[in-house]
Order: sequence, then C-alpha cells, then structure tokens
Amino acid sequence: MSTIGLDIEKASVYLRNGELVAIPTETVYGLAGNAYDAAAVIKIFDAKRRPSFDPLIVHIGDKAMLKNFCEPLRPIELELIERYWPGPMTLILRKKNIIPDIVTSGLDTVGVRMPNHDLTLKLLNNLHFPLAAPSANPFGYISPTNAHHVQKQLEKEVSYILDGGSCAIGVESTILKVDDDIVHVLRLGGLTIDQLRKDGFEVSIATHSSSQPEAPGMLTSHYAPRKKTRLLRAQDQIEDSTSVLYFSKYSSRPEDRTLSASGDIKEAARNLFGYLRELDEMKTTLILVEMAPEIGLGLAINDRLKRACAID
Ligand code: TXA
Ligand code: MG
Repeated sequence: MSTIGLDIEKASVYLRNGELVAIPTETVYGLAGNAYDAAAVIKIFDAKRRPSFDPLIVHIGDKAMLKNFCEPLRPIELELIERYWPGPMTLILRKKNIIPDIVTSGLDTVGVRMPNHDLTLKLLNNLHFPLAAPSANPFGYISPTNAHHVQKQLEKEVSYILDGGSCAIGVESTILKVDDDIVHVLRLGGLTIDQLRKDGFEVSIATHSSSQPEAPGMLTSHYAPRKKTRLLRAQDQIEDSTSVLYFSKYSSRPEDRTLSASGDIKEAARNLFGYLRELDEMKTTLILVEMAPEIGLGLAINDRLKRACAID
C-alpha cells in the first residue's frame, strides 16, 4: 500500500530501485519513475493504462543535466529555459539515446521540464537520473492537484506519494517546440501566451483536431469526468440531476461549483480539476461547464473544459 508523506529519502530509495513515486509540481501531480530505466517507465504506462504512443515528459532539477540526454540547445531554447525554468513550461528537444524509446514513444525528441516545487526540486537533485512523469491519473481522467487525488486513484500502483500540498497553478505545463526561431505552442498550459509575447517571443499556436493532435497523445477526449459533460448554454434549464461548474457566478445549489467568485483566473485554474472531480463524484448525472474569459490562463482552462466535453 502506498503512503503519503514528506520523506525525500524514502522517495529516492524507491526511485533508485525502479519503483514509482507520485511527485507534487506547481501544475499537477506527476507519476514518476527513473527516465533512464525502461522497466520503470513501463510501470508508469501500465499504472496509468496509458497507450504507448503517448510520450512522457522528463523532469530535471538542474539545467546542467540537459547535456546528459539532449543535443545542444539552440539560442531561443536557451532563452526560454533561462526565463521560465523552474516553471510551467515543457520544451521539446532533440534527445540522445540514453533516453529509452519507450519514454518518447519512439520519437527522436523528448519533452523536458524543470518544475517549480521545492520538495520535488530537492528530490530531483538527490538523484542521479531525471524523472519521467506524466500526470498521476488514470489515462484520460482528470489530472490530480493534491496528494489525496492521487491516493484515491493510484494507491495500489504507486509506492509512495510525496505530499506537496495543493498545486499552485492547477493546469499542466505549456508545451513548446522551437522551429525556425518561432515558438510553437503544442499544448496550452500554465505559462501563458500573453507572457511569452510580452517577453518578445514570436509565438504560433497550433490548431488541433482529434484526427490530427498537435502533440502526440493530445487527444480531444481527455481530462474528462466519467459523467456526461457539456458546455453550458444560455437557454439551459438547470435540473436537480445537473451539476454546473460556473466561472464566477454564485450558486446556492450544493450540486454546483464556482471556479472563482471574484473572477480571478488564477484562482479558477487552481480550482478547476478539483471541482470537476467533486462534480463527477456527486449523485447528479450531467455536468454543464461555463467557459472562462479568453485571456491569460483562461485559454488553458477553456482548452481543458472543451476536452472534458470532448469537442474540437
Ligand atoms: O505539467 C505537466 O506537464 C505535468 C507535470 C506532471 O509535469 N505532466 C503532464 O504530462 O502533463 P502528461 O503525460 O499528462 O502529458 C504529456 C504530453 C503528452 O501527452 C504529449 O502530448 C506531450 O506531452 N509530449 C511529450 N513528449 C513529447 C514529444 N517528444 N513531442 C511532442 N509532444 C510530447
Ligand atoms: Mg496528463
């Protein structure tokens, strides 16, 4: 049985022995294993029931580690790393062979990120290998934003859950790939497009569809509750069997949740996945979700809400 705790030494021992440990990050919790150990990585895919075509993100605690498993970086890649690491940005880089193919689903690139969480940075710097870690949820389900979420779903699959409290951002990292000096956004996330543009980067946002995912594994139906979920429309009649996830509107019904009563987008992002889980666990049979304003983190929130409803 897994236990929850703050013991970095214990977590390190499990990881050195090829076992899995759930780790907190500022975005969501990850299900981590030694990225150099194919057998440990297979355990991650098995635990999540994740298809092998969906590559994992590799986490580091020190930028100097990159040269061990990535080809030399281009100037814009270096600039991005200097500005945004540690933080909610994953960069797609050319990999060296030390990263087993299973991590990257056979691609010659690897997604890398340095998370901004004290406990996990300490853990990473206590190890001599990077950690492959997808979000710590069964494949397709809502990502976990606290240790309890992980325990509830992956208790049997993980040896230890490092408890770093609630995630400060609450949506996954922004995935970027640099091509011809342009920063391509493969997944909207915790680092906003506004911020990238303000900092002078030329940004292109890939449009996606379910048949042509913008990044491998970015399927339309994802981050999804088990219940039927769809977008809230103005004409919707709210019945007793319906739960509504409002952006900022107050509701006195216990079946509903409001992401941020004051309309604060950061607060809304922090509450998003936890509230979706709560609504999914209620007795209601339908979840209606209201879109966030299309600014800042609102883009990532809306991306996740649309995927929860499985629409393009
Ligand atoms: O915030 C996050 O990124 C969290 C925390 C734990 O770090 N991790 C996360 O991992 O969201 P996951 O496995 O749920 O999503 C990883 C996604 C893949 O589905 C794929 O879309 C993209 O990252 N990805 C990974 N490697 C890639 C590559 N080489 N090329 C393109 N996309 C890649
Ligand atoms: Mg995920």
